[in-house]
Amino acid sequence: MKKITILGATSTIGINTLDVIKLHQDEFEVIALTAHTQVDRLAAQCLEWHPQYAVMADPDAAEQLEHRLKQKNLSITVLSGVEGLSEVASLSKVDIVMAAIVGSACLLPTLAAVKAGKRILLANKEALVMSGQLFMDAVHQYGAELLPIDSEHNAIFQCLPTGNKTVQDNGVSHILLTASGGPFRTYPLEKLGNITPEQACAHPNWTMGRKISVDSATMMNKGLEVIEASWLFSALPEQIEVVLHPQSIIHSLVQYIDGSVLAQLGNPDMRTPIAHALTWPKRIVSGVPHLNLAKIAQLDFESIDLTRFPCLQLAYDAMSAGGTSSTILNAANEIAVHAFLKRHIPFTAIPKVIETTLAQLSSRIANTLEIILEADAQARNIAQEAINHYR
Ligand SMILES: NC(=O)c1ccc[n+]([C@@H]2O[C@H](COP(=O)([O-])OP(=O)(O)OC[C@H]3O[C@@H](n4cnc5c(N)ncnc54)[C@H](OP(=O)(O)O)[C@@H]3O)[C@@H](O)[C@H]2O)c1
Repeated sequence: MKKITILGATSTIGINTLDVIKLHQDEFEVIALTAHTQVDRLAAQCLEWHPQYAVMADPDAAEQLEHRLKQKNLSITVLSGVEGLSEVASLSKVDIVMAAIVGSACLLPTLAAVKAGKRILLANKEALVMSGQLFMDAVHQYGAELLPIDSEHNAIFQCLPTGNKTVQDNGVSHILLTASGGPFRTYPLEKLGNITPEQACAHPNWTMGRKISVDSATMMNKGLEVIEASWLFSALPEQIEVVLHPQSIIHSLVQYIDGSVLAQLGNPDMRTPIAHALTWPKRIVSGVPHLNLAKIAQLDFESIDLTRFPCLQLAYDAMSAGGTSSTILNAANEIAVHAFLKRHIPFTAIPKVIETTLAQLSSRIANTLEIILEADAQARNIAQEAINHYR
């Protein structure tokens, strides 16, 4: 019986994880579930799964949850704050930690899981983008097992040889990350400024949370994924290419030096990478319908137009610059996306806020958590000022 903590249980990824576990209840025990403010959702999950711990990152929400669980006569330890999240991520009885909190809030609890040597199912990409070298060094130092959940990285993981899951010394030429192009792949450029949050969150192939949906629409999601891939697979920027593939059936590919290209295909459904990582190297049923190639009939590919997607170029530039540049990029993006979702800035101001922030803050060597958190905080302040300019 594998024991699991789900950080961000109320997220799209958390809900999909519980759906997969439901099919294999004899193999998994849910030890801890966490959320931020959605008390009703977490209470309903607690009622169904009877975890030993429930954490609300928000202390007021934690009080409400505790009250709610007592009313239902459920004896569940309720914790709060980043301390509570880190505690359930590092409990000695836990084998697997699903890291599915959105944004930089996932960094500290995931690092706690890393330092406790857990199998980490990494859905969150922002933590690795913020702290790449430090995060990967900790994974190696503490013997944690890192399994990518992002469908692209999970696909690359599956296409790399067993054993050494990096592009080095494996005869790999480069990685091809596929991108659907989001809802605005062919949208008239001159109308992008009027896009609403509802339009940006309506992804053609995937159902996701609001932040990652906007990131997919600007293509910053692909930029964050490029940086994530560089850390996960020890790839240089020039070894990672992005190719548009509107159907989201091929989740990514690995090109080898002999001309072979290995791809992983599947329906666009996150339960496949979740099931893969939960029991890797063993395969289990995920609940995802089998791929019907005859019905799909056609797979299309296009190269990327960076004038349409400036965020992707900003991410490549930040990755090449190194140091805290990716931390700054990520923080400015979080602030800009939040402001767009609140209708404070237009969609087209998102890359401008990020570019302004990167220009105003110098990159430093990112070798301590203090430096990373300081760069994150400074970037948020500068991005917030830039928001006022673009309102
Ligand atoms: N969705 C996908 O298909 C997909 C695919 C690949 C990678 N990812 C990555 O997986 C992560 C989750 O994405 P999602 O779309 O599933 O997210 P989501 O549906 O927006 O859910 C976000 C989760 O994070 C929690 N949360 C938010 N702020 C928090 C804070 N400050 N402290 C603690 N918890 C906090 C939320 O709790 P409340 O519910 O209480 O607000 C919720 O559980 C992201 O990093 C995303 O990039 C997602």
